[in-house]
Amino acid sequence: MIFSRSFLALAMAGVAAAQNKTTVSISVPSNLSTRVLVPDVYGYSIEPVWLDSYLNTSLASTLLGSIANVIGKAPPIRVGGNTADQTYLYPSSPLPLTGNDSAAIPDPLHAHSFNITPRWFDTWATYFPNGTELIFTLNLKDNSSSWANAVAEAEAAHAGLGNSLVAFELGNEIDHFINKGWRDASWGVKTYIEQFRNLTGQITGSSWYQALDNGGKKTPTFQAAVFADPPLVPDQQDEIDDFSIANLTAGGIVSRAEEKDIISSYAVHLYPQSTCDTPRWYRLRLDLLSDHSVLWKNVSQYIPQVAAADAAGAPLVMGETNSASCSGKSGISDTFGAALWAVDYVLTAASIGIRKVYFHLGAQSEYSSFTPLPYTLKNETLAPGIRASWYAHYFLARVVSGQSRNCSGAQPEFRVAALPGANSSSLSGFAVYDDAKKTAAGEGLSKLVFLDMGVWNGTEGLSNPSTLSATDGAMFSEGTRPVSTFEVATPWAQGVQVKVVRLAGPGTNAKSNVTVAGTVFDDGTGEPVVGGGEGRQLGDEYSEIIQVDAAGVLRFDVQRAEGVLLEVGSDEACNDNSQDSPTPGISGSFRAEASWRNIMFAVLVGVAGIIARAGESGSSATGAGVNTGAGTTREKTEAEIEADRLYDEAIEEEYAKREGGA
Ligand SMILES: *[C@@H]1O[C@H](CO)[C@@H](O)[C@H](O)[C@H]1NC(C)=O
Ligand SMILES: *[C@@H]1O[C@H](CO)[C@@H](O)[C@H](O)[C@H]1NC(C)=O
Ligand SMILES: *[C@@H]1O[C@H](CO)[C@@H](O)[C@H](O)[C@H]1NC(C)=O
Ligand SMILES: *[C@@H]1O[C@H](CO)[C@@H](O)[C@H](O)[C@H]1NC(C)=O
Ligand SMILES: *[C@@H]1O[C@H](CO)[C@@H](O)[C@H](O)[C@H]1NC(C)=O
Ligand SMILES: *[C@@H]1O[C@H](CO)[C@@H](O)[C@H](O)[C@H]1NC(C)=O
Ligand SMILES: *[C@@H]1O[C@H](CO)[C@@H](O)[C@H](O)[C@H]1NC(C)=O
Ligand SMILES: *[C@@H]1O[C@H](CO)[C@@H](O)[C@H](O)[C@H]1NC(C)=O
Ligand SMILES: *[C@@H]1O[C@H](CO)[C@@H](O)[C@H](O)[C@H]1NC(C)=O
Ligand SMILES: *[C@@H]1O[C@H](CO)[C@@H](O)[C@H](O)[C@H]1NC(C)=O
Ligand SMILES: *[C@@H]1O[C@H](CO)[C@@H](O)[C@H](O)[C@H]1NC(C)=O
Ligand SMILES: *[C@@H]1O[C@H](CO)[C@@H](O)[C@H](O)[C@H]1NC(C)=O
Repeated sequence: MIFSRSFLALAMAGVAAAQNKTTVSISVPSNLSTRVLVPDVYGYSIEPVWLDSYLNTSLASTLLGSIANVIGKAPPIRVGGNTADQTYLYPSSPLPLTGNDSAAIPDPLHAHSFNITPRWFDTWATYFPNGTELIFTLNLKDNSSSWANAVAEAEAAHAGLGNSLVAFELGNEIDHFINKGWRDASWGVKTYIEQFRNLTGQITGSSWYQALDNGGKKTPTFQAAVFADPPLVPDQQDEIDDFSIANLTAGGIVSRAEEKDIISSYAVHLYPQSTCDTPRWYRLRLDLLSDHSVLWKNVSQYIPQVAAADAAGAPLVMGETNSASCSGKSGISDTFGAALWAVDYVLTAASIGIRKVYFHLGAQSEYSSFTPLPYTLKNETLAPGIRASWYAHYFLARVVSGQSRNCSGAQPEFRVAALPGANSSSLSGFAVYDDAKKTAAGEGLSKLVFLDMGVWNGTEGLSNPSTLSATDGAMFSEGTRPVSTFEVATPWAQGVQVKVVRLAGPGTNAKSNVTVAGTVFDDGTGEPVVGGGEGRQLGDEYSEIIQVDAAGVLRFDVQRAEGVLLEVGSDEACNDNSQDSPTPGISGSFRAEASWRNIMFAVLVGVAGIIARAGESGSSATGAGVNTGAGTTREKTEAEIEADRLYDEAIEEEYAKREGGA
């Protein structure tokens, strides 16, 4: 943490000496349309075969416990992935031939089946922090005896996990089932709805479910859809089918009242990049990950899906995601650039109405934010540990925290909007509103987030013993790391104090030495080492404090490849809370004294002088390939690779035609 602060000071001194600061002017319009920002917006999806590895150490529970303490709500966990449709429940414990309650056959890395007993659920029933909401994916693939296996899994999962089990999914990435040979060519919305009704009908008709219902207890719901194909990227779609959220809802999945009650969300999956096949392997690039324009293209394709889900009465979630499918790519997925991407991703998704984002975890995956056990990968022995992207989660915990500080019983709720003036490849920005404090347009602005997504390849923090050393950064940026001076026109009153929390790292390419407000997490134990000195609590670290200038203008510096959170203290209108708040948030002395009513705010010119990175372009990054999703790696056959290549060519032509015609 000392490192980060002095590094920043040095960088800024260097830049000041060279008189090389750029000014970025942005306004916060009063009429932004906002979407809900839930406290548990950032969750994890764990591949079923890798869950045992995470359970084997306290690393995950310690890390997630810290987040729960700061936010007041634990991150949600979905146990699902490719191996969910290869999971088979054996009725008695232990499994035949073993002393265990789970067995990946032949091993987790190459699993073609995953056998469990009902007792397996007991092994993780209390592992996660108190209040963790669990989603479990049932095996939809195995349709023998009318899904007898899935029906039994549901009962065993509830018996083991109890109230923590909030929802089931039926199958993973069901829009890949034809290609996987799990359904015939007639598979589509119509047959899915029939099977969804049959299986949910059997589960909700089960005696255990009926007993909960009749006892007035909370019953598990269903997270429907679970599609993987990116709607607007035809060359990365796996098979021809008619799956989309709009078709699913138009097809009548919630045409009956009881279905409306049991569907709590619709899920889609997204992996912007991929290691699954050769064409996409060659397109893997860190600077395409740390790029807000590319991210916007990836996320905005879901706007119609959000609208369809909302219209059907349940939110869309990004139920499984990460930087690159087929387990990620060290040197990209495990860098500070990936941390900035993850923050940008979650806030961009929330701002278009994607309610939650679940980042996929495998104990030996290159994209995992943390890995529990040592293992050998590509001839290297990797230590357990924490990757840079973990700090995205902690930074976001700071962004969403404070919602549990209630104002006179009102349901506290944050809302988020992307700032139109902070929207380029290298800059992204968000306004966070606290509905409990909102009384008129522009009021209730509680926090601002800015992300400088520009690439800076530094020379520090290049390695991390939990990642491949072969991918440690070897290309370095020249000159001095640039710093921009932001001038943001806010509705905040002159003199109001604003806390600045930085997500900082030595460079886009860094794999270690990343901090949030100076806080670091111990790679071995996952325990936080809280920044800001003696007696500081997690979530209330020392941070810089700046003051709002005349006309509501806020001035602060951001270095290239850095995130900043700016937050004002609790409003006077909500002063009943600081004692009983479960969240160690902003201290009582740190308050915005002013009312924001009737404050005129200056509208400065739009984005000025954002340095466009030379040579950046996502436009050539199109091509063919199969999105086989995350989890275990499936190698492609020669024939598939050739098919990819031909398809790639065809699509390049198609894009060229469209661009020419536009
Ligand atoms: C907000 O107001 C500006 C200026 O009048 C207008 O251009 C913009 O479309 C409005 N945005 C929304 C979301 O209403
Ligand atoms: C978990 O730990 C136990 C011993 O505590 C060991 O026997 C087992 O093999 C470990 N499982 C994994 C997946 O590493
Ligand atoms: C139980 O699982 C662990 C980890 O996979 C394995 O090492 C051990 O051999 C298994 N135990 C038995 C009795 O098969
Ligand atoms: C878990 O949280 C609930 C309320 O959210 C509380 O009643 C319960 O005592 C907690 N359990 C533990 C073990 O902390
Ligand atoms: C059941 O699955 C098999 C493939 O495993 C598939 O051929 C068949 O069509 C499926 N039956 C139904 C009713 O979907
Ligand atoms: C599910 O399908 C099976 C066989 O097609 C049928 O016997 C059963 O009644 C159906 N169950 C429900 C709840 O729809
Ligand atoms: C939705 O259904 C229509 C009609 O079957 C089909 O033409 C369309 O391709 C489907 N949409 C998607 C995204 O599959
Ligand atoms: C993400 O966006 C980039 C740039 O447009 C594109 O190359 C890539 O195919 C997209 N990926 C997905 C899965 O949408
Ligand atoms: C691992 O080492 C073997 C033997 O030295 C070598 O053939 C192979 O290419 C190496 N694999 C990787 C991924 O470096
Ligand atoms: C930064 O390093 C990454 C690899 O770590 C490389 O792909 C990228 O081109 C580099 N960018 C610059 C601007 O040096
Ligand atoms: C000043 O900024 C320009 C534009 O980013 C850059 O090319 C140049 O290297 C910088 N100069 C120094 C001394 O860092
Ligand atoms: C940078 O990270 C490495 C590995 O985590 C650690 O050993 C080292 O102390 C850190 N350096 C500084 C200056 O914090």
